[in-house]
Amino acid sequence: MPGSSPLADDLDTVRRLEDAGAPAIVLRSLFAEQIAREELSAYLHLERRGESFAEALSYFPSPERFVMGPEEYLAHLSRVRAAVRIPVIASLNGTRPGSWRDYPRAIEEAGADALELNIYHLPTDPDVTGDEVEEMALQAVREVKRALRIPVAVKISPFYSAIAHFAARLDAAGADGIVLFNRFYQPDIDVETLEIVPRARLSNPTELLLRLRWIAILAGQVGMSLAVTGGVHGAVDVVKAVMAGAHAVQMVSSLLRRGPAVLSRTRDELARWLEEHEYNSLRQMQGSLSAGRGASPAALERVHYMRVLHSWRPGDEEPAPARRPS
Ligand SMILES: Cc1cc2nc3c(=O)[nH]c(=O)nc-3n(C[C@H](O)[C@H](O)[C@H](O)COP(=O)(O)O)c2cc1C
Repeated sequence: MPGSSPLADDLDTVRRLEDAGAPAIVLRSLFAEQIAREELSAYLHLERRGESFAEALSYFPSPERFVMGPEEYLAHLSRVRAAVRIPVIASLNGTRPGSWRDYPRAIEEAGADALELNIYHLPTDPDVTGDEVEEMALQAVREVKRALRIPVAVKISPFYSAIAHFAARLDAAGADGIVLFNRFYQPDIDVETLEIVPRARLSNPTELLLRLRWIAILAGQVGMSLAVTGGVHGAVDVVKAVMAGAHAVQMVSSLLRRGPAVLSRTRDELARWLEEHEYNSLRQMQGSLSAGRGASPAALERVHYMRVLHSWRPGDEEPAPARRPS
């Protein structure tokens, strides 16, 4: 499905994506800071960076720089809902409970079929522990789940010290799905102008590998649905994600680069691939290469790591892929 992005900003594109076979569509995120701009100042004070407060606020985009304000977001969501038959998934971005005020309910009332919570948080305070970071996200999930009847998926980053444990806690907090992983837009430094350059890069397929690993580890260990986002550019990437255990696969960069037709091409290629490899359905292969099959995930990880490092020979540009132990 098309993941959270500007792809759903335009109704015509949304219809083209539905025609190209999208089974659902995710809207771009509405940011907690848009809902309560003062949230940013509270956050910065909490982070004890008072002296840089004014400067930081000046980096924060002014309301008119956002594509849609909170009320426009709800109106757009209703329009998208009315324009297509496929499920429409809204997205909220934030880090802490309370930050979205009543918007989760308003989003449900505006017709969203599900909600994706994009927990995008870079903990920079040395006094804040990993457990506190996780607890804050969990409280936000519990709060949203209490308020809503529609399913809630949580999109997380890979930067948790114990992803499997955090995922299990999200599961226990009531999350219906987990989306692995959001991408942090890492700013670069321009050494000539001495400026920080924020740059949104589109992805490439190498980014899929991190997702495959974690989907494979989580498959069978949590009850939530597992979705991949990041580095899916074609049918074989979808096959890999499903074999690792994904129930859903999102695409963004590839659709932004080459348009909605990529989706129908990918679906056609996927159907051909399944036929050529004698699979009757995606379900038949789903999780067939997850880490839960056979050995323990931890043991498999160690084995793969050692094999990969020992497989490299002088002259090899890249180490040979490590074989799965039988
Ligand atoms: C231009 C652009 C805008 C995006 N906006 C959002 C957003 O609002 N919310 C969100 O959760 N992810 C957003 N993403 C991240 C995508 O949903 C997706 O997770 C990421 O691009 C990785 O998938 P891909 O490799 O298929 O691009 C955006 C990505 C791009 C390229």
